[in-house]
Amino acid sequence: MKSHVFRPIVVVIIAFVLLVVARQLMVPKDFGVHGESFTFGYHRLSNIDEWKNYKTKYRGKEYCRECHEEKVEENLASPHNVLECENCHGPAVDHPEDPETLPIETSRLLCQRCHAFLPYPQSNRALMPAIEPESHNPGMNCVECHNPHHPNLEDM
Ligand code: HEC
Ligand code: HEC
Ligand code: HEC
Ligand code: HEC
Repeated sequence: MKSHVFRPIVVVIIAFVLLVVARQLMVPKDFGVHGESFTFGYHRLSNIDEWKNYKTKYRGKEYCRECHEEKVEENLASPHNVLECENCHGPAVDHPEDPETLPIETSRLLCQRCHAFLPYPQSNRALMPAIEPESHNPGMNCVECHNPHHPNLEDM
């Protein structure tokens, strides 16, 4: 065989061997395990347990009920029933073990995020009951008048 053909073939063979070795070393042992729901086998079996053990950051309001039942009931009986507690108080993670308590934000900005009037809304945000922050009781925190857990205007 002429050397100008032979040399590239050697290069290709070496590249192929390197690829096979690299694949052997790098692909996890449990990748491609066949099972009922893994038709194509392109799946790492231990991935299932990894996701099962993944710590949930946001727990949802049914989790809060055990210890803050009154707040949950108030919330469910209000127009804020569509909100999660954690939308205002941040992720509970393992609260009350870690963190022991959750932040309480009382600034106007917390509420303005959803209730500040937008002149050109792009979405259903337009349907939100809105106020003009500059003229709606400026200088006072919203929660001095509105109950964040039960903002019903008819109960004010
Ligand atoms: C297993 C009981 C338990 C659960 C479940 C729980 N909490 Fe708490 N929470 C506590 C305790 C205990 C405190 C500390 C009480 C204190 O400092 O007055 C606390 C404090 C708080 C505080 C601060 C209160 C304050 O006066 O400083 C907030 C806000 C709060 N929790 C929100 C939540 C939310 C939201 C959830 C659900 C995602 C939740 N908690 C779930 C027990 C719980
Ligand atoms: C719209 C935002 C918002 C949502 C939603 C919300 N909170 Fe609050 N939460 C606040 C604010 C603001 C305060 C502080 C109120 C104040 O100082 O008058 C507060 C205070 C608290 C406190 C402190 C104790 C107290 O008597 O005020 C607890 C506990 C609490 N919230 C739990 C919850 C739980 C549980 C939920 C879900 C059912 C929830 N919150 C939903 C904004 C919210
Ligand atoms: C001094 C008390 C007071 C303060 C502070 C206050 N409000 Fe109000 N708010 C009211 C009263 C009273 C009403 C009902 C009458 C009205 O529409 O003006 C109202 C109405 C509203 C409405 C309903 C508007 C509608 O058209 O349905 C929203 C939303 C609202 N407030 C949000 C807020 C937010 C957000 C803040 C803080 C940035 C805030 N309010 C501060 C007293 C207050
Ligand atoms: C994440 C978005 C969000 C945040 C933050 C939020 N709200 Fe609301 N608010 C809502 C939604 C959604 C409604 C119900 C709208 C509807 O049904 O038309 C509502 C309704 C209201 C209403 C009207 C109640 C009625 O009877 O019509 C008031 C007042 C109000 N919120 C006050 C507040 C105050 C005060 C805060 C801050 C402590 C706050 N909101 C924070 C989403 C939010």
